[in-house]
Amino acid sequence: MSLVPMTELLKKAQQGRYAVGAFNCNNMEIVQAIVTAAAAEKSPVIIQASQGAIKYAGVEYIATLTKIAADQVNVPVALHLDHGSSFAQVMQCARYGFSSVMIDGSKFSLEENIALTKKVIEAVRLLGISVEAELGKIGGTEDDVSVDERDALFTDPAEAEHFVKETGVDALAIAIGTAHGQYKGVPKLDFERLKKIRQRIDTPIVLHGSSGVPDEAIQEAISLGVCKVNIDTNIREAFVKTARKILEGNLQEIDPRNVLGPARDAAVEVIRQKIRVFGCNGKAS
Ligand code: G3H
Ligand code: 13P
Ligand code: ZN
Repeated sequence: MSLVPMTELLKKAQQGRYAVGAFNCNNMEIVQAIVTAAAAEKSPVIIQASQGAIKYAGVEYIATLTKIAADQVNVPVALHLDHGSSFAQVMQCARYGFSSVMIDGSKFSLEENIALTKKVIEAVRLLGISVEAELGKIGGTEDDVSVDERDALFTDPAEAEHFVKETGVDALAIAIGTAHGQYKGVPKLDFERLKKIRQRIDTPIVLHGSSGVPDEAIQEAISLGVCKVNIDTNIREAFVKTARKILEGNLQEIDPRNVLGPARDAAVEVIRQKIRVFGCNGKAS
C-alpha cells in the first residue's frame, strides 16, 4: 500500500482504545522488520526516522526504502519524522514523501512552541501530512525526579489544553515520566497527570521513550488515552544482541547477510510482541 498519514490511524485507535506502534528505523533490515511484523499481525504501523537515523542514512534513503517496504505489504503504513528539529527539516521530509511529521518545539517557551507548530501545520496540512508536537520535556534516562522537578518537566494539563486549542495539532507527545533509552530502574508514570490531560484534550496522545516500560504500564496508559507508542531502544537492543551473539559464536563469519538476517528476525519478534501489547493486532482494515 502507499504511505498514509497518521491521523486516521490514530483516530481509529482512539475510538477502539488501542495504540498504534511507532517504530524507529535505522537501516534497511529494520525497515523490513517493521513492515514484516505489521503484516504478520495484520496491524497498521508507523515507521519513524529519528534525528540520528537521518544523520546516518539521510531523508531520501529512508523515504525511498520505506515506500518500497510499504508497497510490499497490505497494511497501512505511515512514514513519520521523529523529533523534527526545524521547519526546514519538515519541508525536506515533505518533499521526499513523508506522510507525517513531528515538530519538536519542547525546548522553546510555550508561545514559541505554539508559533513553530502553527507554522508547520499551515505549511503541510494542505499536503495531507499529519503533525505531532511535544509539550513538556521527555529527555534522556534520568534518575528519580523530585516533585518540584516533575512540575517543571512534565506536561501541564492546562497548558496542553491551551496548546491544542491554539494549534489544532493532530497528535500531542506528553511528558509523564518516560525517557528515551535504557532505564536504570523501573519508570514510574504519572497516570493522574495523564488522566487530567485527557480530560482536557481530545487530541491523540503520544507516549515517547516507551522501551523498557512494563507492558502493564503501557496498557494502563493506553486505557487512559495514549494512542501512539514510540519504540526504538528495544529494537536496537534485540538487533545488536543477536548480531553480537552470531559474531562471537563464529569469529570466521564474514558474510553480513548471516549476521543481519537473524538480527532482522529478532527485530520482527520484538515488534510483533509490542503490537500485541498495544492491542493493534488485527486492526489493519
Ligand atoms: O528520539 C528518540 C530516538 O530513540 C533517539 O534516536 O539517537 O537515533 O536520534 P537517535
Ligand atoms: P525509546 O528508544 O526509549 O523506545 O524511545 C523512542 C522514542 O520515543 C522515539 O521518539
Ligand atoms: Zn521520542
